[in-house]
Amino acid sequence: MKAWLCENPIGPEALEWKDLPTPEPKAGEVRIAIKAASLNFPDLLIVQNKYQAKPTPPFVPGSEYAGVIEAVGEGVTNFKVGDAVAAFGGGGGFGTHVVAKTSLLMPLPKGFAFDDAAAFLCTYGTTWHALMDRGALKPGETVLVLGAAGGVGTAAIQIAKAAGAKVIAAASSDEKCALCKELGADATINYAKSNIRDEIKALTDGKGPDIVYDPVGGDLAEPVFRSIGWRGRYLVIGFAQGTIPAIPLNLTLLKGASIVGVFWGEFARREPKNHVQALADLAAWYAQGKIKPVIDTRLPMTGLKDAFTRMGSRQVRGKLVLVNE
Ligand SMILES: NC(=O)c1ccc[n+]([C@@H]2O[C@H](COP(=O)([O-])OP(=O)(O)OC[C@H]3O[C@@H](n4cnc5c(N)ncnc54)[C@H](OP(=O)(O)O)[C@@H]3O)[C@@H](O)[C@H]2O)c1
Repeated sequence: MKAWLCENPIGPEALEWKDLPTPEPKAGEVRIAIKAASLNFPDLLIVQNKYQAKPTPPFVPGSEYAGVIEAVGEGVTNFKVGDAVAAFGGGGGFGTHVVAKTSLLMPLPKGFAFDDAAAFLCTYGTTWHALMDRGALKPGETVLVLGAAGGVGTAAIQIAKAAGAKVIAAASSDEKCALCKELGADATINYAKSNIRDEIKALTDGKGPDIVYDPVGGDLAEPVFRSIGWRGRYLVIGFAQGTIPAIPLNLTLLKGASIVGVFWGEFARREPKNHVQALADLAAWYAQGKIKPVIDTRLPMTGLKDAFTRMGSRQVRGKLVLVNE
């Protein structure tokens, strides 16, 4: 097999595409021939040693992928050779083959394309948990999505619309805002060239959004939190801008608003039944055409370094998918 090996987590430039021994699955594991893998922002942080989880080198990065099971370990009864699956967690996705625990797998219903499946679990799983569970989104509410043209951002537009919300999508360029409109956003804000507080005020008749979905953090967070509506829920998804903001707590009091943390991976580990139900609901929405991963570009698996460069320089709209031909 071949895979991208990280021996020194100083950044994508140190990754090497290498021949490795094809692993045999142990008890409770399967070996998957990978058809497609997608990039999530934490993949970039992991190869820079900047993420909360720090795998011991050498390791193969790539947290999300889809493919076909080609060998099963001892005691595996719920999956068989030939099954199509998607997986998130455990790493190893940026290669041709991987061994994964069956607890990380989602069986793919018939008709679920591999490139969509490789770009599905993390973005939609996170966003469902955020909006429907932690945010308790109700139809008719207004959701403001920051970084709305990114991976989790595009999923947030689709899920919020499918749940009956009004969506204001905010992003850093007119091209990104245009994509958000295509995905069904009711209004957009280009925060690179306009005052986000004035725009929010104008678009919500001065009331502010009921929910803010924030995967960006940095210097956007405080002005946006100052604009949130009464009883608003500010969903903390991530800090793609690089800085963790500090919000003055008096603002929560003034708005009767909540700052709500979202940690999808931990939710999946601690609440497996709720997690599996959420994925089943999402797969049904995919089959009904209510949601569909937005794929910016498909690159060959060997194009990982180029993909990381594009992600790190904010060029991606939706998801980047790497495929094994
Ligand atoms: N809490 C959880 O469970 C969970 C799960 C998955 C992901 N996350 C987090 O969610 C965030 C987004 O992940 P993603 O996979 O959707 O990433 P992504 O596709 O790269 O989107 C991130 C967006 O952030 C914005 N951004 C602002 N400053 C940036 C910078 N300096 N570098 C890169 N992007 C910047 C960009 O939008 P503009 O150019 O429009 O500003 C970009 O589209 C990450 O922080 C990730 O760790 C959290």
